Amino acid sequence: MKVLVVLAHPRRDSLTGQIADAVADGLSQSGHRTEFADLYREGFDPLLMPEDEPDVGREDKVYSDAVRREMARLDRNEAIILVFPIWWWSFPAMMKGWVDRVWNKDYAYGSRHLGHRKALAIGLSASDAQTYATTGQDVAIETEVVKGVFQYCGIDDAGFIFLHHSTEGESRAADMIREARDIGRTFA
Ligand SMILES: Cc1cc2nc3c(=O)[nH]c(=O)nc-3n(C[C@H](O)[C@H](O)[C@H](O)COP(=O)(O)O)c2cc1C
Repeated sequence: MKVLVVLAHPRRDSLTGQIADAVADGLSQSGHRTEFADLYREGFDPLLMPEDEPDVGREDKVYSDAVRREMARLDRNEAIILVFPIWWWSFPAMMKGWVDRVWNKDYAYGSRHLGHRKALAIGLSASDAQTYATTGQDVAIETEVVKGVFQYCGIDDAGFIFLHHSTEGESRAADMIREARDIGRTFA
């Protein structure tokens, strides 16, 4: 399968970046082709401006060049994996803005939907599963991403994986990287 791995983190050598690399590595080991989208390094602008606002009155809006480039990148892949740190129980603004602008009306929802076979979000969290469960933040972010983005846009086979305890040092980081490689290896 051709898989687009989308990374949102200000530092390329962050643990999040290493997790994205490990996922891509695991995917390759299982014979998948990966394409990497590194939103910060590519200078993606996450602000939705008027040229990319959905037009409620028509279904043939032509979006900006930058957005059409992102749409083409999505179109040449069959599956999507988003990798990001959880910030304030949600996406970082960079990833949210990429969705705002690119997963746009009559491309990803509305008169058209995405045809990807599978989508996965991997969120790194400093906290633990118990805290997320107690506060309902696990259901909240899974609902937001899986139902609210992936499935809303037509990708039924969709999931969310938490990688908790992301700030607990080298040994935990090594475990997370191993887990990420397995996630890639067993993705499909
Ligand atoms: C602005 C900001 C908000 C954060 N909010 C959360 C949060 O809501 N829940 C959580 O578990 N961790 C939160 N964290 C911790 C990050 O998830 C953690 O720093 C990250 O997973 C570590 O990975 P990294 O080294 O690749 O950045 C937050 C960190 C930042 C900088």
